[in-house]
Amino acid sequence: MAEFKTIGVLGLGHVGLPTAVGFAELGYQVIGTDSDAKKVETIAQGKSPFYEPELEPLLQKNLAAGRFRVTSDVGEAVRASDILFVCVGTPQRPDGSADLSQVEAVIRTVAENLNGYKLIVEKSTVPVQTAQWIKRTLIRYAGSNATFDVASNPEFLREGTAVHDFFHPDRIVIGVESERAKEWLLELYRPLNAPVVVTDLNTAEIIKHAANSFLALKISFINMVADLCEATGADVVKVAEGIGLDPRIGKHFLQAGVGYGGYCLPKDLKAFIHIAEEHNVDFSLLKEVERINEARVDRFVRKVQKALWVLKDKTLAIWGLAFKPNTDDIREAPSLKIIRRLLDEGANLRLYDPAAMANVRQVFPEDSPRLVYCQSALKAATGAHAILLVTEWDEFKQMDWNWLRQVVALPIVIDGRNCLDPARLQEAGFEYYGMGRPSIAPAQVVGVSSG
Ligand code: UGA
Repeated sequence: MAEFKTIGVLGLGHVGLPTAVGFAELGYQVIGTDSDAKKVETIAQGKSPFYEPELEPLLQKNLAAGRFRVTSDVGEAVRASDILFVCVGTPQRPDGSADLSQVEAVIRTVAENLNGYKLIVEKSTVPVQTAQWIKRTLIRYAGSNATFDVASNPEFLREGTAVHDFFHPDRIVIGVESERAKEWLLELYRPLNAPVVVTDLNTAEIIKHAANSFLALKISFINMVADLCEATGADVVKVAEGIGLDPRIGKHFLQAGVGYGGYCLPKDLKAFIHIAEEHNVDFSLLKEVERINEARVDRFVRKVQKALWVLKDKTLAIWGLAFKPNTDDIREAPSLKIIRRLLDEGANLRLYDPAAMANVRQVFPEDSPRLVYCQSALKAATGAHAILLVTEWDEFKQMDWNWLRQVVALPIVIDGRNCLDPARLQEAGFEYYGMGRPSIAPAQVVGVSSG
């Protein structure tokens, strides 16, 4: 049996907080810490600093049960823990490489507070060979007599389904260099009953970057197929179904649209390209993935222009601002680029998102009538010359299109996520333009490609 008692989680962001609360729910004693004292205070009150379904009740339950506690004193959390999960941010630097300064800073604090053997587990997404640097840094600052192991345990949870993903992982990847580290991590994750891949440190780090890069590659691939479908009158949704049923391809991450965003895929792809270049490996395949993704917003805006001809002084409803549904995260969200482009074209925008409006307001303050934040999808659509669907929240799929037909100025929908049923919209009298599927346009413009 393993001898660890307390788990410390360093960094309470989108990865750290669900991880900490998840371990507590499994019955472990967990202490969480973050250099942002305000964030720690919010969490201590049972509130999540970001929107993540199912997280808050679980946080409150485990705080009340005394299995989870938080402190803004990082050193205290280090001293109190046997296993330390490093979950700090690894943002992007201007050259695309990962900024590891937060990792270094927290490792120095770990070194200063080492009071006996500890297992230090890197969970933040980092470039290959970071664990080696962590080891070197610990020895430099704690001395060569310090007793510790470093492991890599990349996280694969997704925003919006983080709690579910914690309890139902497809796999657990454990990069280790010692038997003790391996045993502790196997023991820790045993209750989840998931397949485990045990490997060395460098391999575990590569697995994480390769996974996110492959997901990005799938999305860019289907987006190019979408463009070809559009040019030839085929339907990319059916193509995705037709190829996705082949288990060698798989049905996930084949939704064509305005492209991928978020804090992970764009940044991790850039970092992977950068690390390949550093090691003289020509991974230009991934540069193409990136280029295709960057072109999606332009393609979408051109589609809006084709549907409406002149955009100046048109009123456009934008449904969905978060980079994907079930989150309030807008980092690298396609919506931000779309808003900028449409404002430049002189359009008036009516924005709605179920969770992300407060965050978007920080980037684009309300400026009536050019930019108006609306309290519902229906209000955003009122008086609009077109509805632009940018994020596929469930509530947009359940709208009453006959009712909407009464409030819009023109019945035009541009579905950037292919998540609406064109036949239903047609019945309600709407024109419909998707991304790589046949359009439903008025009779007089049939034959004009929407591409
Ligand atoms: C991603 C990975 O899916 C997680 O496994 C990983 O743990 C996480 O990054 C991370 O590295 O922390 P996440 O960024 O939460 O998770 O979001 P995804 O569900 O991967 O979606 C990323 C983007 O791709 C979104 O903008 C989404 O709209 C887009 N997407 C996804 C598509 O355009 N098409 C698809 O078929 C799927």
